[in-house]
Amino acid sequence: MPATTTEELLELHGRIRECTACPLHKTRIQAVPGYGPVTARIMAVGEGPGETEDREGKPFVGAAGQLLTRLLESAGLDRRDIYITNIIKCRPPGNRDPEAEEVEACSHFLDEQVSMLQPDVILVLGRHALSRLLPGAGGRVRRGERVYVPLYHPAAALYNATLMDTLEADMRRVREYLADAEAERSRRAAAVPIGAAADDAASTDQLALFE
Ligand code: URA
Repeated sequence: MPATTTEELLELHGRIRECTACPLHKTRIQAVPGYGPVTARIMAVGEGPGETEDREGKPFVGAAGQLLTRLLESAGLDRRDIYITNIIKCRPPGNRDPEAEEVEACSHFLDEQVSMLQPDVILVLGRHALSRLLPGAGGRVRRGERVYVPLYHPAAALYNATLMDTLEADMRRVREYLADAEAERSRRAAAVPIGAAADDAASTDQLALFE
């Protein structure tokens, strides 16, 4: 479990809100750092804030967000247990795709979020999150104890029934992945000799492609 406190996570959110590292700060209403408990075992990562998110300062609160909430519920997951964020924290004007320099300037915040929460499962929502978090991968990936689960972006599924069916089916398996990741964490904790640094165990991890 992460040693990070809520205060430390909120301090990071504060730094994100004040960030002026890329031009998107000039057109945003506000930055959208992320939302959810520091104890979340599942993190969901989307592309970037849309219009509603920019206005409200929270991720996935527009139409795609409502669908995400419904999909999580139908998979037996409560959105309040999940930490939700995006690759970039400020809305690109007109919801255009994020540019490479914007992703580059913002990525360290996502890296900090991941290392603070140490989630067991990361839901990778859509192609932008996929190319940032799992470049070159197609399917599910395990890195150490963590499982990365690529999923269609809910916004894409809103307008495409075929994608919706696939997204629903994929989402239904997330609880199973969480259980697997937790079992793997327990197995590794039991295997680390007393006194050995956890980092030593992590450094032997191989990138494992499941499918
Ligand atoms: N789409 C995203 O990728 N992120 C949001 O926060 C909202 C819509």
